[in-house]
Amino acid sequence: MTAALRKGDQRHRIELTVNGRRRMGEATPRTLLSDFLRHELGCFGVHVGCEHGVCGACTIIRDGYAQRSCTQYAIQAEGAEIRTVESLSDGADLNPLQAAFRRHHALQCGFCTPGILMSATEFLERNPAPTEREVRDMLSGHICRCTDYHGMVQAILEAAGKRTEEKGS
Ligand code: FES
Ligand code: FES
Repeated sequence: MTAALRKGDQRHRIELTVNGRRRMGEATPRTLLSDFLRHELGCFGVHVGCEHGVCGACTIIRDGYAQRSCTQYAIQAEGAEIRTVESLSDGADLNPLQAAFRRHHALQCGFCTPGILMSATEFLERNPAPTEREVRDMLSGHICRCTDYHGMVQAILEAAGKRTEEKGS
């Protein structure tokens, strides 16, 4: 093994905030953020599909923006604030967006769902009262092999309506 390879295998300590908690872990310079979140920090809701930034399964919210976690290295996330799908519910109750997905049968195998929920969460934070076209545009960044997307569109619009009603009341 060459010295260069040994250097590439060195693990570095990374500190960041995940779902509101300060976390620490180790990663090599080539460890993807998606793998770091799953295997080092135990956030198994971060699903890894294509590993090429195409399918959207690995989407997280980083520093307020929905991003693919498979197109970033873990060491680039030092000091970042990350939310994964685990942040949406306390485990006992689904949050309104998750509940709407369940009501509208917006998932089947569920592999794509965590990434879509994180994109939709960030989308609704930016655009609390979206049009159907805007929802469909947002979903175009995600690949689902099971559903026809219709239930997801309905679920996101319903969750948006509830948020708007709550703000208005
Ligand atoms: S696994 Fe990251 S976009 Fe597909
Ligand atoms: S529910 Fe199976 S890939 Fe989307």
